Amino acid sequence: MSDKKQDVETTGHEWDGIQEFNNPLPRWWLWTFYATIIWGIGYTIAYPAWPLVEGATRGVLGYSTRTEVVAEIDRFAEMNAGVKAELAAMDANEIPNNEAVYNYAIQSGRATFATFCSQCHGSGADGIAAGNGYPNLLDDDWLWGGTLDAIVTTVAHGIRNEDDMDARYSEMPAFGDDYLSDDEISNVVAYIGSLSGMEFSGDATAGETVYLDNCSACHLEDASGDQMQGAPNLSDAIWLYGSSEEAIEHSVRVGPYGVMPSWTTRLDEAEIKGVAAYVHQLGGGE
Ligand code: HEC
Ligand code: HEC
Repeated sequence: MSDKKQDVETTGHEWDGIQEFNNPLPRWWLWTFYATIIWGIGYTIAYPAWPLVEGATRGVLGYSTRTEVVAEIDRFAEMNAGVKAELAAMDANEIPNNEAVYNYAIQSGRATFATFCSQCHGSGADGIAAGNGYPNLLDDDWLWGGTLDAIVTTVAHGIRNEDDMDARYSEMPAFGDDYLSDDEISNVVAYIGSLSGMEFSGDATAGETVYLDNCSACHLEDASGDQMQGAPNLSDAIWLYGSSEEAIEHSVRVGPYGVMPSWTTRLDEAEIKGVAAYVHQLGGGE
């Protein structure tokens, strides 16, 4: 043991009698080590590597994950160019009758929805929170119509926005501005609440008269709503602006004015039809 110790050179370092041998490194290890150095240098020449002030060295191969992604996107776009053109040209209500186009529409529509619509309507299209003015698109209750054609129009031009001449438009008066007395408001709220089984503080019977005189032109006599004017159904249990007595009274006083942006300048024809098809099948479209 002690003999062998003498054969090997030491580095001359010694701590508490412990000496450090100066064994040569194994050949295989050393060559592997050199190989990794060469490979490393080669890599930094070939691929983007060294950070500089403005970006990094690009590498002689010109590789970048960004160009890869762009190439992938182009590949998909090319693959789908045919079906996309078909979708753009197709009459909206016909889309579900063509399986290939319909599948593509829903797939692309799902992605469009996640990017452009979910911030207001919720990623699950449920309107995020009940009564916040952003409609739940999962139900079959449509303010402006639930046919594919109607949804395409809503999405393309938006609602009550000032950027698009063709935006859907209507305006409920603010009945709190001297049109109706506090009692009349309280009574009409009790009346429309009673239509979906709710009991509020006002006199619903007196409210019916107020309703027929002031509200039926838009919400219709049976309060089922008028999609031509975007006037909601007031006889069901779905409330865009909330279902409490206070919330409904607030709607009657101020006249709600929900605004949705126009998309014609930001989405192309196929994207609009795609996202409309997606929304249509979510909500048990008409
Ligand atoms: C800035 C918020 C916002 C964004 C973004 C938005 N919406 Fe809307 N959307 C609204 C509001 C508010 C309404 C309800 C307007 C009203 O009260 O009539 C609405 C209404 C709708 C309706 C009508 C529902 C019905 O019952 O008739 C559809 C369909 C719709 N949105 C689809 C979309 C799609 C698809 C997108 C994405 C391309 C989108 N929205 C993006 C705010 C938004
Ligand atoms: C000129 C047409 C018009 C008249 C008249 C009108 N409304 Fe409306 N009303 C609307 C429209 C349009 C909306 C939807 C506004 C929006 O989406 O932002 C609405 C929304 C409402 C809402 C909110 C519904 C919800 O789901 O949250 C209530 C409540 C309501 N109206 C009650 C009344 C009552 C009560 C009267 C009569 C005193 C009346 N409205 C008269 C057009 C009208």
